[in-house]
This record gives sequence, structure tokens and C-alpha cells, in this order.
Amino acid sequence: MDKQVSTLKKSYEPSKEVKKHSIVKDYEKVYLESINNRENFWAGEAKKLDWYRKWDKVLDDSKHPFYEWFTGGKINIIHNALDRHQKNATRNKLAIIWEGEPGDVRTFSYHALNREVSKFANILRSMGAKPGEVITIYMPQIPEIIIAMLACAKIGAIHSVVYGGFSVEALAERIEDANSRILITADGGFRRGKATSLKNIANEAMKRSPTIEVCITVKRTGEECYMENDRDFWYHDLMSMPLACTNCYTEHTDAEDPLFILYTSGTTGKPKGLVHTHGGYSVYTASTFRYVFDIKPEDRFWCAADPGWITGHSYMVYGPLINGATIMMYEGAPNHPYPNRWWQMIEKYGINILYTSPTAIRGLMRFGSSWADRHNLSSLRLLGSVGEPINPEAWKWYYEVIGKGRCPIMDTWWQTETGGHMITPLPSMTLKPGSAAKPFFGIEAAVVDDAGKEVKAGEEGTLVIKAPWPGMARTILGDPDRYVEKYWEKYSKQKWYLAGDSARKDEDGYYWIIGRIDDVIKVSGYRLGSAEIESALVSHPAVTEAAAIGLPDELRGNIIHATVILRQGFEPGDKLAEDLKSHVEKEIGPIARPSFLVFAESLPKTRSGKIMRRVLKARALGQETGDLSTLEE
Ligand code: WTA
Repeated sequence: MDKQVSTLKKSYEPSKEVKKHSIVKDYEKVYLESINNRENFWAGEAKKLDWYRKWDKVLDDSKHPFYEWFTGGKINIIHNALDRHQKNATRNKLAIIWEGEPGDVRTFSYHALNREVSKFANILRSMGAKPGEVITIYMPQIPEIIIAMLACAKIGAIHSVVYGGFSVEALAERIEDANSRILITADGGFRRGKATSLKNIANEAMKRSPTIEVCITVKRTGEECYMENDRDFWYHDLMSMPLACTNCYTEHTDAEDPLFILYTSGTTGKPKGLVHTHGGYSVYTASTFRYVFDIKPEDRFWCAADPGWITGHSYMVYGPLINGATIMMYEGAPNHPYPNRWWQMIEKYGINILYTSPTAIRGLMRFGSSWADRHNLSSLRLLGSVGEPINPEAWKWYYEVIGKGRCPIMDTWWQTETGGHMITPLPSMTLKPGSAAKPFFGIEAAVVDDAGKEVKAGEEGTLVIKAPWPGMARTILGDPDRYVEKYWEKYSKQKWYLAGDSARKDEDGYYWIIGRIDDVIKVSGYRLGSAEIESALVSHPAVTEAAAIGLPDELRGNIIHATVILRQGFEPGDKLAEDLKSHVEKEIGPIARPSFLVFAESLPKTRSGKIMRRVLKARALGQETGDLSTLEE
């Protein structure tokens, strides 16, 4: 046990300093106003942005659950994230401070970022990219991933970023689902001192999903990779051509035009491509970023997520850029070459706000406090957490060792589907470690039972959101029925959004998120579906059936436990178990690698043939298997 860490208190008051600094001093008052006149509140927030044409209607709820926001309005997120900053002092401010894992540093002012985005947007246009077409981005954490995203948005194309840690099948499936014609990638990136190879994975994926006609590759590592004539282009070659000029028109998109799709895991095998829009998403990310992080012009903000996840989209790229903030970005592993890497960078760049996941905190906590103690972390003012519930030990360590008891922790609950923070503290609020505090402005949440009745304070129930908000995903690409079924069917009478998490609400109205109620598994904060892992296993010639479950893990939140049934002619054994684990890793990515794999003769199933994963879980944990009345045999 770390000596520096004292016992955890039930609640923590913000310091005078933090209170003085914060934009909202009285949460309850603003919250009530926002709920009593929701549309008025969002109109007020929307007015803080620049619109090409003002909206006719704040909310069109006539097509529930396909809500539309700021209808009739014209806005492009790039106009707010880049164009408008060129007219004032922000153009000279740093937009991005980037450090590569080997220690190379690149910085971009808002002017430089706008220049690079404009050049690349012209390249994309010259490749025939059209508004409304989906462009897939598969890159490491280098500035070009942001440039690529912004260039797509600028020309009205829809970006689909596939996390660089995913592998062949995951990438191929996402390219195919989106029917993507253009792929932007890199030869690789640096991670733990080694060069990863992305282009080779992209090449494999392009073989499996032949929709890609143009592939643009950024040279990062210099590793050799195969380039195909007429399909493959180097980014630097294109960017040095005269057609990559800096003069570039920003498409005047409609508020409801799609900005991006982002795939996330659900209950069934195929990942869902959630659709977010230019208008509502701009308003929501700008607003949540400003209030939750109390952002000031002099701040340097570090969201240590990957741009390939929603956290990266909303709070590494769009929220900060719309607000004209300076963002920090780091390419590699937090403990490379030593576990002080993050703390060293906070000191070196004078970071004021750090936003990360409980898993990252637990991972660094493991190495002890001395790594952080040797650095001056006094620039930090605010801390943030996202992705999974933060356990008391991690909270305490983050608060005391990193924040020195000065920096409030914003434990933000939200989802790929919600676009931005939903339940979160504000810096001026009393904090309760482990609780995500209260709903953001305009958000009405509740914890209910199956019939939709609110459960008593302190009791566990299902988390629902009772009214629409601008940042909500509009649909699932190509599958609106699934969107309705997954999120809106359970409480269709009440027209409530089903979040898929269970939670408790205490007497003070603070929310405590417990975890997923479906077959989504959170491994190190990354979202995976049981079915995705199962289909990867079944794609191996030895496997006929498989079941994957999450088991609690101290470090990673959850780890994957797989049960497989072999085809005739295959013998169980350690070698095969290792092969199968590696197969999953090769198909989906290292995060999906099962930690345990067991062989079985059959799987527990309901009479209708559904795998009863809760039975497997209870067995794996050595617990009672509970009610088995629906079990087939
Ligand atoms: C979980 C990540 C507890 C939750 C932004 C949710 C959290 C899922 C928190 C969405 C938090 C996210 N406390 N649990 N502060 N934040 N979750 O789509 O289960 O990758 O439903 O979005 O992460 O994961 P996603």
C-alpha cells in the first residue's frame, strides 16, 4: 500500500480556487432551467457557434426515435473548428502539440493545421471524394489522423475511423459495411519501442473487402510495405503536388448531414456504425467540453485516448478545436521507455487538464508513486476519467498522487451513441469517488425497473435517458431497424433511450454506474462484443461453436474467457488453445485476445438456442448458476 495515499473520504469539496475558476457556480439552478426549457437551452448553446444559416427548428421530434436537431440550419463543424479561428488571435495559437514515442515533437498552430487540412481536403476532392461518401481512416496516433478526419469533414465526406489496434477482419468488415472507396492509413506507428505495421494489415483487409479504389499511406516508420500501382499513393507525394493548394472551400453542410460514423460493439456479431451529424454533434461536444473541463484560453488539454474511439473524436479533436483549445497528443505506450513518460510530458508541456481511463490509471499506479513524484505536476488543474467505473483505489491515487489533492476528477459517463458526456460532475460540484455525479444540462436520466418505474434511492436498476439531446447518434448506418430495436424498443411506450448500463442513484441524486446489462465486454475501457470474439473463434477451422464472456480483472476491468467446442478430428490441448487465442488477436486485435480458453462438449443454451452466458460466467467464477429453468438440458 502506498504511504502517500490516505483513506478515501465519502465526498470531496472543490477548493476555493477551483470554484472561482469555474464557469458554472450553481449547477442545480442552470440544470433546472435547462430541463424546464430544453430547446431554449440548446438554442442558447447553438448560438455560441457560427452558422452559415440559422436553424428553423431546434428539435424536430415528429419522427421518434429519429430525432432531428437544428433542422434547416447550415453549419460545417470545420467552419467552427478551424475556419473561424483564422480571423482572430487563435490562428497563432497552438492547436496540436504532438510527441512521438521515440521522442520526436511536432506542433501545429491553428493556421498550420488549417493549411494542412485544406491541402489534404483538395487531394481528397481530386481523388473524386464526394459529400456523403464514407472514407475509412486506419492510422496510428500521429497528427495526420486528425488532419485526415478534418479534411473529410471539410468536404462533407463522412469519416469512419477504425482504431489502429484493430486487425484484418475488424478493418475489412468496417470497410465493407460502409462501402468505403477511399482508405487513409500509415505504414505503421511506434508502440513500446517497436514499429507496428498497419499498411500490411490494410493490404490484407483490402483483399477481403474489395471496395477500396484509392489508398493513401502516411510514411511514419519507414518499414517496407507493399504498394499497388494505381491504388496506392504516399501522403507526402500527394501533399507536395500543386493540386494540394491551401485554398479550399468548406462544404456548406446541413445541420443533419452526417459528419462521421463510428463502429462500436453491440450484442450481435456485426459492429454497429453509429451516425453523428455536423449540427447537433458540434453543439454538444463544444458545450460539454467547455463546461465539464472549464476550459480557459491559456489551457493545454490532454485527452490520452486514441482518436479511433469516441472519446478521441469528441474530446481530443472536435470539442477542443471548436473551443480553440490547445491539445496534446502522444503516440505511444504510457510506460515507454519508463513508467514516468506521461508525468514527464505533463511537466514538459505544462499540461493543465488530463483526461484518461481508469485502466490507464491502474496501469501506472502499479509502478508506484515515485515515478510521478520526481516530476513537477503543478500545472495540472483538473483531471478526468472515462470508459469504465473508476474503483476507489485508482480514484484515490489519481486524486492524491497525480492531482496532489488540488484537482477535481471529472468522472464522465457517456457512450459512442451519446456523442458526449451525459452524466458527469462539473468542477464546482461536490465529488463522490466512484460516482459520475449528475446529468449534464438538458439531460434527464433515471434508474428504472423493467416496467419503467423508478427504483428506490440506492437500488440497482436500468439506466435510461428520458428525452433527446443534440449529440445523440441519429441511426445505425444501413440498419435503422436495429437502431430502434437496440435503444428504443424496451421503453417504447415512454419514448426513453436505453443506455445498456445498470446503475444506482443515491439520496443526493448522484449516479453510480455499475456496468453493462448486455453482452458488451469492456476490456481496459475498450468496448468489445461477445459475439465478435465468438465469430472470430468460429472462423478458425478447428472450432464449431464458441462463447465469450467477461470476467472481472483488477487491472483491466474485465478480461475475456472463451469456451469452444471443437470440430471432429481436432484434439483439445495447450498448443491449440494458444493458436486459437492468437487467431482472435489476428482477426480482431490484441485487445480481444482471450485470457482464458477452455474446451467443452456443449454450451448451456436456452430452448430457443441462445447461449446462456450468465451460466458460463457463474461457472467460471465458481458461483451458483442461479435459475436454470430456461436451460435446454
Ligand atoms: C462504460 C466510451 C462507468 C459504460 C465513452 C458505457 C462508463 C460504455 C463510464 C460506453 C464511466 C463509460 N463510468 N462506466 N465514467 N464511461 N462507461 O461506447 O458501460 O466505448 O455504456 O464510450 O462504457 O463505451 P463507449
